[in-house]
Amino acid sequence: MPQTANSPLISLRSGPLSGSVSVPGDKSISHRALMLGALASGRTRISGLLEGEDVLNTGRGLAAMGCPVHRLGGAWEVLGRGVGGLAQPEGPLDFGNSGTGVRLMMGLEAAYEILVRLVGDASLSRRPMGRVLDPLVRMGVEVPDGARTLPLSLRGTSDLLPIEYQPPVASAQIKSAILLAGLHASGATSVIEPEATRDHTERMVRYFGGEVTIGERDGKRLITVRGNAELEGRSVEVPGDPSSAAFLAAAALMVPRSEICIKGVLVNPTRTGFYTTLREMGADLVFQNEREQGGEPVADITVRHAKLNGVRVPPERAPSMIDEYPILACLAAYATGETHMAGLAELKVKESDRLAATLAGLKANGVRASADGDTLCVAGGRSVPGGGTVETHLDHRIAMAFLTLGLAADRPVTVDDAGIIATSFPEFRGLMHGLGARFAAPEDIRG
Ligand code: S3P
Repeated sequence: MPQTANSPLISLRSGPLSGSVSVPGDKSISHRALMLGALASGRTRISGLLEGEDVLNTGRGLAAMGCPVHRLGGAWEVLGRGVGGLAQPEGPLDFGNSGTGVRLMMGLEAAYEILVRLVGDASLSRRPMGRVLDPLVRMGVEVPDGARTLPLSLRGTSDLLPIEYQPPVASAQIKSAILLAGLHASGATSVIEPEATRDHTERMVRYFGGEVTIGERDGKRLITVRGNAELEGRSVEVPGDPSSAAFLAAAALMVPRSEICIKGVLVNPTRTGFYTTLREMGADLVFQNEREQGGEPVADITVRHAKLNGVRVPPERAPSMIDEYPILACLAAYATGETHMAGLAELKVKESDRLAATLAGLKANGVRASADGDTLCVAGGRSVPGGGTVETHLDHRIAMAFLTLGLAADRPVTVDDAGIIATSFPEFRGLMHGLGARFAAPEDIRG
């Protein structure tokens, strides 16, 4: 993604939010649909694909390796290359801001005898890649420059060895990279998970005709993919992203007299920790019209404003709501009492150090908050003073969380760069505005 100048944005205290909206497609599922479509033989048609920069970069990467990816009418089409069908790209593949894109693509490329140079923006270039490279190297991949962060080069092999691996941290990205590589290994590849992480790769590999089994060993999940897989192109309907819906739900809970309905949201249990926590805080949430879409559970979620109470969020819930802590922390500022969020070590290696960025943003807006190791504690109150400027550090979720905080704060909240939101939720401002949220550019306020 080209580095552009910062575009600051201000959120203003807003009236009741109301209306019915759909959020864009789930980011995790969108990346996987493009990638599995590329590995399958035949045509894959994807409707509801998230057209955020992160996912578009994955599409561009696949196209650079010779796999046609096109927008056709309202949907996207991938003309799969089948086993062994990807080619050496001419230049580096740029994943912009996306950890999911680059880490999953490493797993996908592992089975190809090509040398690929992987690059990203300043945020992505700081994030750890060794966690994915280590298992892939055990499978036979080479990293000629020995790098552990981007930019780096990776050489795959058509002789991938199957492995059994327990990742050092709970991460669907590590798991997925190994499973994608395992699809082309000469045997069964297993990942051992002490705590379940999002299982979209497992579900979608099966949906495309691959074989995945989920067992148990010593109380841990044992996920096994069969190698030499032959996948068939499919139609995928991507459900709405629960991590994007979280900002809308939180906004409705913060702003008095709000009531909104968010339609077609993915409610896979490996992703709904935030909604479980909202209920524990006393939120009025109704899941309606629950149904299945392309192997994933989906529902319409109605949210009404409610007075919330602080809660203790247990560390084992972190994988099911890892991207939602910044917005939960902002919402907790309006709850009565303290909210403790434990087990947040992984938050420090996201698009920014989200623990530090969230804490700094809360303090800048007069919220009492503290961090102790991997625990974040927010002392809620009747009102949030606001009036602060939040540094987003190239992190879309920090930008959206604090713009949401400002909708019920006493004074406006400024984020230093709203442009980065386009990585995951380009429609954020428009959708929020349609519900009644007020945003302004600094020049509008000065004028
Ligand atoms: C994702 C997994 C999570 C999450 C990210 C998307 C995925 O990362 O934070 O936004 O699609 O697999 P980790 O697996 O590193 O926890």
